[in-house]
Amino acid sequence: MTATGDSQHVAAEQANEYGYRDFALGEFRFRRDEYFVYITWPTGSHIMSADAFLRALQRDVAWEFFYGTVNFDGVFGTLNHYGTVDVFAGRFNDAYRKAELDYTENVETPAVRATFSEMLDDWTNSTFDPFASPHETGSAFGVKNGENRAAITRHRVSAKRMVAVPGDEGLRSDDNGHPVNRHFADVPQDEPLVEAEPGFESEVAAFSLFAYLSRSQVTWNPSVVSVCKDSLFCPTTEEYILPIVHGNDRVEWFLQLTDEITWEVEDRESGGVRARVLMKPGDVCAMPADIRHQGYSPKRSMLLVWENAGEEIPDLIASGKTPTYPIDF
Ligand code: PHB
Ligand code: FE
Repeated sequence: MTATGDSQHVAAEQANEYGYRDFALGEFRFRRDEYFVYITWPTGSHIMSADAFLRALQRDVAWEFFYGTVNFDGVFGTLNHYGTVDVFAGRFNDAYRKAELDYTENVETPAVRATFSEMLDDWTNSTFDPFASPHETGSAFGVKNGENRAAITRHRVSAKRMVAVPGDEGLRSDDNGHPVNRHFADVPQDEPLVEAEPGFESEVAAFSLFAYLSRSQVTWNPSVVSVCKDSLFCPTTEEYILPIVHGNDRVEWFLQLTDEITWEVEDRESGGVRARVLMKPGDVCAMPADIRHQGYSPKRSMLLVWENAGEEIPDLIASGKTPTYPIDF
């Protein structure tokens, strides 16, 4: 079942008995208590652990609904149409579709952004940082207890050219004073020596990506460190589980820089299992455009996500003009 049109975002102002506000987006209703989040829609209902829900919600908001699909789990999520967003339940779940319990509502991006941001703000307690690893944050649970705006309004850093080139000082100074993460104590901190020819001092730059990433306070949050036309290098540090199951609308490449990540790869539409990929340092893989994936990192690791931001790609793939895989050998 799909609803389109002028869904309004209606936020109830009253707090419930646990101190949390209820939210509505179109026909979806959202409620939280001490441990869980409850989602209902005209044909069904769903329950999620509050910590997992908030970790997924945080990324959906901070990434502006990302590329393609952001599954919060096997049932609920968003599909980005870059201007509007499908908010869905059971849409990419074979059993829900067969039982006709699935539901999708197409909403203008600003309305989804507003409701999701308010929900994230209201439901995140002072002790919880949805971007942090479970080991480095306090609890998400219990009755409403303050807020953590400093954590949830962190912006995804984006380079205009390359980190360290003049004009992108701000990006690096964000990291000043951040300690090296406990899992990266062995990462060398020295910076490369650049000897530019006279006149090229502002054009030639280098920095240690390993040192930069070793100080990242967040997990599963790629930051754009270089932009070359549509080619984006988005390194990130990973620990525990990627809080979303990402459904691709284009091919993306992964370069495992350190340590290990296991990727569970499923069919994007049905959720059927397709592969399990263990990536070790130096491994490179391409995730096809018709899958969804979730990563498991037993120890903090460094991953380079290489994205093609070309606006035309989802249509080229959806219409079959471009294959769902990157290369024929
Ligand atoms: C992905 O879905 O491709 C993804 C998202 C966040 C990460 C890494 C990979 O940190
Ligand atoms: Fe992905």
